[in-house]
Amino acid sequence: MAECLVVYTSKYGSTREVAQAVADGLQAKIANADDNPDVRSYDLVVLGSPIYGGDYLEPIKDFLRGNKPFLAERKIAAFITAAAHWERDPGLTGEEDELLFTQQEYADGLAHLTGGEVIDSRGFGGRLIPAQLDDADRGMLEWFYRFLMRKPLQGFDLIDLPSAQRWGEELRAAVDN
Ligand SMILES: Cc1cc2nc3c(=O)[nH]c(=O)nc-3n(C[C@H](O)[C@H](O)[C@H](O)COP(=O)(O)O)c2cc1C
Repeated sequence: MAECLVVYTSKYGSTREVAQAVADGLQAKIANADDNPDVRSYDLVVLGSPIYGGDYLEPIKDFLRGNKPFLAERKIAAFITAAAHWERDPGLTGEEDELLFTQQEYADGLAHLTGGEVIDSRGFGGRLIPAQLDDADRGMLEWFYRFLMRKPLQGFDLIDLPSAQRWGEELRAAVDN
């Protein structure tokens, strides 16, 4: 049976929960990117990050930078969590040329940043609880909602752990084939 590792980063915990569900489905070990796990004994590495300001969260980028030669030799899958409704066409403002990616494009981009053999990628809905945000995040998002979304800051909970677990099971079937 292939050895699998899920490496995630998460600021407010939702991506950690999704990562755990993927790891359960995949029967994989799980590690926080901050702990810089050694990937060399794994056949498949699954990366997970939330999207913040249109980018991956810094610890997963640090992990990628520090482990690129090892990741490039492994099978790779990646997922992201994000606010689905911000990223769907026609994007924030309705302008067609707006530079926004879909969840799937973000997930695919994360997988391909490794240089490894990408077997799959997936975008999942995340969670945002305004009362939990630190001052900087709340300030940024209040501005974002007021000026771009033209409504007050709203939370959402799009976490779907059964789907994340099913995706983990699909990865297991793919990697053992
Ligand atoms: C400061 C901030 C910026 C965010 N930027 C984006 C974004 O650019 N696009 C998006 O789709 N979601 C964005 N989100 C939503 C997060 O991706 C979502 O809440 C995610 O589930 C958070 O993951 P975590 O709980 O693991 O930190 C943002 C959330 C915060 C708090």
